[in-house]
Amino acid sequence: MAQVIVAGTQWGDEGKGKIIDLLAEFADVIVRFQGGSNAGHTLVVGGEKFIFHLIPSGILRKAKRCVISSGVVVDPDVLIEEIDSLKERGYLQDDSQLLLSEEAHVIFPYHKMIDMGRERIRSGGKIGTTGRGIGPAYEDKAARCGIRVIDLLQGDVFHRKLEENLANKNYYLTHVLQEEGFELEPLFQEYMGYKEKLQRYVTNTSLFLSQQIKEGNNILFEGAQGTLLDVDHGTFPFVTSSSTVAGNACAGSGIGPTQIDFVLGVTKAYTTRVGSGPFPTELSDEIGEMLRERGGEYGATTGRPRRCGWFDAVVVRHAVRLNGLSGVAITKLDTLTGLNTIKVCTAYQVGEDLINEFPASSEMAVRCEPIYEELQGWKEEISGAREISQLPRAAQRYLERIEELIQTPIHIISVGAQRHETIIRHNPLLT
Ligand code: GDP
Ligand code: IMO
Ligand code: MG
Repeated sequence: MAQVIVAGTQWGDEGKGKIIDLLAEFADVIVRFQGGSNAGHTLVVGGEKFIFHLIPSGILRKAKRCVISSGVVVDPDVLIEEIDSLKERGYLQDDSQLLLSEEAHVIFPYHKMIDMGRERIRSGGKIGTTGRGIGPAYEDKAARCGIRVIDLLQGDVFHRKLEENLANKNYYLTHVLQEEGFELEPLFQEYMGYKEKLQRYVTNTSLFLSQQIKEGNNILFEGAQGTLLDVDHGTFPFVTSSSTVAGNACAGSGIGPTQIDFVLGVTKAYTTRVGSGPFPTELSDEIGEMLRERGGEYGATTGRPRRCGWFDAVVVRHAVRLNGLSGVAITKLDTLTGLNTIKVCTAYQVGEDLINEFPASSEMAVRCEPIYEELQGWKEEISGAREISQLPRAAQRYLERIEELIQTPIHIISVGAQRHETIIRHNPLLT
């Protein structure tokens, strides 16, 4: 039995979806514990592409149970679209495969409108959110006025809470953001329609997970976003609104920390970021362009071009500590093929100072000049490699140097988007 958390170690889009899909073969249950439809997790299976925003990336594996737990903020419209599309493609034929927490908070159109309206008027520069209403929904949760899945199931309770929320949101939308407000009855009816479609999945997911653990089953916790987008430890305020680090897998899914056996970080062989905020190793030259094109670095949720740059060991060391990583999966090594030399950032220079830790202040982070070490590149295509020994010597050396710099073992190496394009040195679910 092994309970494994998988977390992003950079600014998201590290390839968590691919790694979860791969490991899901060895798990019984796969759980999303935070974030919402701001996430976009891509799986390529049998040449077919799937992008999941809310449904855990284990759903393509028959008989695996997939849980959307209490810490997730759920947009029912997006969830239903994902369910319908999966069913059409021949998956999720058995409703018991998907479980939705009764405690999860629900996203409403006013959350999205506030999210986008706030971005428009922000004086300190846009965060570049996904516009999915994530921040405003978590705000309502913290302010204790949010509406939860359990409320939707009780029509009269939901009606009262929606009415109370709308009074407040409509005032804010019309008076502060100069937007249109929402009418109670049509919104109520729309969400009662969602309730009809979703109620079959709703349950006490904390109880379900604790039973699964008692039965000796393997659980994979699927993080969304990445450590540098964490609301406490990321590049605040250019972060998302949830705790993205491994510690939150327990709080977000309602199990205790004593249950966890292994924390796997997912780390891209270089660095990308969507949205605004500091990014010390960003490349705005032809190498950055080459990484974007070769790596297909366009947002899975918004389609925005991702900013690209060299591997940053300061960032990943930060993630090793904050997540307590047992090991990492390095992804997209194949994207680096063809470069004569590859740089890795080992520390930062700020004025006269040498810095080894990521600064808390984003104002300071934008002044960090990366200190680079140069490694030799390779020309051979590597997507066919299934053993480390099949990689060119320079690629092996690159991985060895990353391991030294982050002081953490590399257990998995992804050399292509497809499920099978992977080198597995150690499978955390088989320990
Ligand atoms: P996630 O949000 O962490 O799940 O990552 P995304 O799905 O947003 O972005 C990762 C992208 O890289 C997707 O298009 C994946 O299909 C793709 N991908 C994942 N691993 C590899 C890899 O090793 N090589 C290549 N070329 N693409 C990969
Ligand atoms: P996955 O799970 C990359 C970024 C947004 C923006 C900031 C805040 O696919 O790795 P939000 O809509 O959450 O309020 O936006 O966070 N962001 C992501 N970037 N991958 C993600 O998810 C992201 N989810 C949010 O671009 O900069
Ligand atoms: Mg993504």
